[in-house]
Amino acid sequence: MNKRILAPSILSADYLHFADSISLIEKSKAPWVHIDIMDGSFVPNFTFGPPLVKALRKITNLFFDVHLMVNNPQNHFESFVQAGADALTFHYENVIHHHRLIEQIHDMGKKAGISIVPSTPVSVLQEILPFADIVLIMTVNPGFGGQKLIPQCVEKIKQLQQIRSESGYNYKVSVDGGINNQTLPLVLDAGVDIVVSGSAFFSGNLNWS
Ligand code: DX5
Ligand code: ZN
Repeated sequence: MNKRILAPSILSADYLHFADSISLIEKSKAPWVHIDIMDGSFVPNFTFGPPLVKALRKITNLFFDVHLMVNNPQNHFESFVQAGADALTFHYENVIHHHRLIEQIHDMGKKAGISIVPSTPVSVLQEILPFADIVLIMTVNPGFGGQKLIPQCVEKIKQLQQIRSESGYNYKVSVDGGINNQTLPLVLDAGVDIVVSGSAFFSGNLNWS
């Protein structure tokens, strides 16, 4: 029995039939849905906004794991929470006051996550780890689905698990990018808690049991 959480990413859903994609997630063993928000500035692509989150909230009770790949993420916390987000994850790289943002998310009663891109080391998170609920390790450069996992990033999962066991912190470690049947064993062996998968999940190339 796999105690890890699968979070299919609707970045790779059927955009003409979102409700069908949500049904597919519900029929799988996934309790979460990962929602990638891109602003065409922090990352070179655009995706969804609060109206889509609100529409999906009406048809499912899945946990909404919202990944904010946007500049000034704090400007958008409230609208995503009102739309139905359960967790908000922002990026380390474009924020100064990480602790303040985590507190803002907690004040709204939601889980707070922090994410790092492949070129950012785990060490920079040292002072924020006691406060985070989710640490999202990107194993591709954010912006697009269907990219190849960068194997060097997998070591970061192990580092975070080690820090957690030594310190007694409570965060969950999530991995995002290039997870399929070939790469899943690597991240499971590294001790990941949450597995995000977009293209492999929706194309039937992720066996989860
Ligand atoms: C990439 C997104 C991912 C994306 C992963 O910028 O953050 O969540 O959906 O897609 P796959 O699983 O196709 O790499
Ligand atoms: Zn994501």
